Amino acid sequence: MEKREKLYEGKAKVLYATDDKDLLIQYFKDEATAFDGKKKGVIEEKGVLNNKISSAIFKMLESNGVKTHFVEQLNDREMLVKRLRIIPVEVVVRNLIAGSLSKRLGIEEGTALSEPIVEFFYKSDPLGDPMINEYHARAFGWATDAELKEMSATALKVNEILSRFFDERGIILVDFKLEFGEHKGKVLLGDEITPDGCRLWDKTTREKLDKDRFRRDLSRSEPTGGLGR
Ligand code: TMP
Ligand code: ASP
Repeated sequence: MEKREKLYEGKAKVLYATDDKDLLIQYFKDEATAFDGKKKGVIEEKGVLNNKISSAIFKMLESNGVKTHFVEQLNDREMLVKRLRIIPVEVVVRNLIAGSLSKRLGIEEGTALSEPIVEFFYKSDPLGDPMINEYHARAFGWATDAELKEMSATALKVNEILSRFFDERGIILVDFKLEFGEHKGKVLLGDEITPDGCRLWDKTTREKLDKDRFRRDLSRSEPTGGLGR
């Protein structure tokens, strides 16, 4: 596999062409952004962790029948992926109320939901990823009805698999965002699945274990009696 030219640089990742037109290299950076790039920082080794976390999760999802763009982890910061035509509709699944839903409806974070909620957002940094519904996505040609149905069903299946996985490890999967793309006529799960795009809370203490620590400037907690850093 030969790495070729840089095709695209996003806020947290870079995509490179390879000598195979159907395959790309996805490189994970240490840069962290929030609020559509308005807040910026660097978290040392985040790229390495996110590449490993994403690779492990994509492998687990594939073994459970979810079709993803993941081919293989190449090294610390790179994975080989299938080239996608990105569908510009982000899919969010929520198990507990948090973040923008809490603000929008004025309901306290952590409130339980009787069933998971699926939401769609139009992928656009300049517009701040506005919330949309299926009608907008179809009418503007961002996704077809079949694609929307498949994306929702896959997102709910991913939710079941990941919720169980994290629950067994003492972590609540509060919500997460997925992106999809089309590859050779099939809809595949793309992008990354990492604590940058998921809310993960400790089941007993409800401590936040995800990018909300960066978004909300939460100080790093140190173990009692530890040396600190
Ligand atoms: P929200 O509560 O801000 O709408 O976020 C819902 C979930 O989606 C949360 O787990 C964080 C994730 N997310 C992203 O990955 N990228 C984004 O641009 C936004 C707004 C949210
Ligand atoms: N990923 C988005 C950004 O970089 C938003 C977020 O994660 O809060 O701005």
